[in-house]
Amino acid sequence: MNVRTGFIFLTFLTVTLTTAIYFIWEPIKWSLILTAPMILLGFYDLTQKRQTILRNFPVLGHLRYVLEAIRPEIMQYFVETDTQGRPINRMFRSLIYQRAKDVTDTVPFGTQMDVYRSGYEWMDHSMYAIDQTQVDPTPRVEVGSKHCTQPYSSSMLNVSAMSYGSLSKNAVLALNKGAKIGSFAQNTGEGSISPFHLESQGDLIWQIGTGYFGCRTKEGNFCPDLFVEKATLDSVKMIEIKVSQGAKPGHGGILPAAKNTPEIAAIRGVDPYIDVHSPSSHSAFSNPTELIEFISLLRERSNGKPIGFKLCIGKKYEFIDICKAMLSTGITPDFITVDGGEGGTGAAPVEFSNSLGVPLRDGLAFAYDTLVGYGLKDEIKLIASGKIFTGFHIARALALGADMVCSARAMMMAIGCIQALECNTNTCPVGVTTQNKSLMSGLDVNDKSTRVANFHRKTLKSFTELIAASGLSAPDQLRRQHINRRLGMNLIKRYDEIFPYPEKNSLL
Ligand SMILES: Cc1cc2nc3c(=O)[nH]c(=O)nc-3n(C[C@H](O)[C@H](O)[C@H](O)COP(=O)(O)O)c2cc1C
Repeated sequence: MNVRTGFIFLTFLTVTLTTAIYFIWEPIKWSLILTAPMILLGFYDLTQKRQTILRNFPVLGHLRYVLEAIRPEIMQYFVETDTQGRPINRMFRSLIYQRAKDVTDTVPFGTQMDVYRSGYEWMDHSMYAIDQTQVDPTPRVEVGSKHCTQPYSSSMLNVSAMSYGSLSKNAVLALNKGAKIGSFAQNTGEGSISPFHLESQGDLIWQIGTGYFGCRTKEGNFCPDLFVEKATLDSVKMIEIKVSQGAKPGHGGILPAAKNTPEIAAIRGVDPYIDVHSPSSHSAFSNPTELIEFISLLRERSNGKPIGFKLCIGKKYEFIDICKAMLSTGITPDFITVDGGEGGTGAAPVEFSNSLGVPLRDGLAFAYDTLVGYGLKDEIKLIASGKIFTGFHIARALALGADMVCSARAMMMAIGCIQALECNTNTCPVGVTTQNKSLMSGLDVNDKSTRVANFHRKTLKSFTELIAASGLSAPDQLRRQHINRRLGMNLIKRYDEIFPYPEKNSLL
């Protein structure tokens, strides 16, 4: 029996018993007076669709809000700090929720950040700010090199890779429906394409990891025939080879046994109820040239869809070697996703999450500079991910060289994640990262799909408002000189001083 049916059963029992006893012993009416409001509240909680925690835990769920009001938890997802150096938890988390709920998202009283702290970053506005209505609030980017015959006009902000298995069925449904409403794309993550990715026909970026889930042979290698079946689906707009991810570079994906249900196992082509560890590196390629040839093979088999790869920058010469392989073969990917070492995950060893992989801003600037230096940037779009959840974060990534961005954890919050930090235990109380049917049933797909579409729209809107405030008329006018970083009380540098632009073709 789950919490919700338990609540209904207990309520029924209490009401029947107390009413029966009332006829025998009159003082029982006081307990009726006390329990009636609880029961009414519980029924309200069960029937409302906006708060998953209350649907899953009627009455009791309210305690969370009380406890949070007393002592909001400190969550390192939020990078900026307040005047006393504490992560600004409440402001940023509220911002994501407010944008998702489409309610007022302005703040009263002024900045809450410590603007004199080393590391504080800001953007330069212009005395000649342009009218906000002059900037397209839904900017798009065309992804597709000269080798690609089905380029994709992508939103500038998409849902970053998160698998079905890591996410619940309802979370996948809500994200995909939201993507359809807001005309953006959902990255499937490495766990293959499930029926829930296809139900609402939202655009998909199909990710292929080292486990080749969805296109794997019995032995766990890449299977070209199974690849074609999925790659040619209408919903699949781009295909991403996952080389590494920031939260656990050099480590394969982990699906804990508790979350590996028979349905998920069938979708992935593995045995159910065992821990699924995908290998730490690919068997389809073992050097830069083979990676580039693999990209070419996937492009050909997918009938010319954009193909790219995702990585967290590690050894820099390895990325340089890939660029050299592009030059020697004449083949380029259509996009490269640079994930920061600060990225998120469903499950990872703590050392991998905290101490491996180049952080986003450094990795992104390096990737951009190397591509420009080798004269390759014009063909390849750069996608950035890693704690991007406000308009300023998008602007900062674009100034460094990204063409577009994607976001995972903010999208999770938009569909109700409360950072319970239980993604790896199958007990997520709000049904986002669990395969427990009772818990996921509290996540209302319609309500949460609207929220994720709202969050996407309002975040992009805030980004384009910043563009207008800077006197620019389009995102591609952003440059490194528009962003500043404080390095000490009396030391400020512009991004173009910290990350000097390279000359085009200077590395050739
Ligand atoms: C629950 C969860 C599951 C994820 N699954 C994948 C995955 O399957 N493949 C992948 O490349 N990245 C995966 N990621 C990483 C994200 O796609 C993203 O790169 C990273 O979290 C940084 O973005 P963020 O800071 O917006 O969360 C996952 C992240 C989370 C939180």
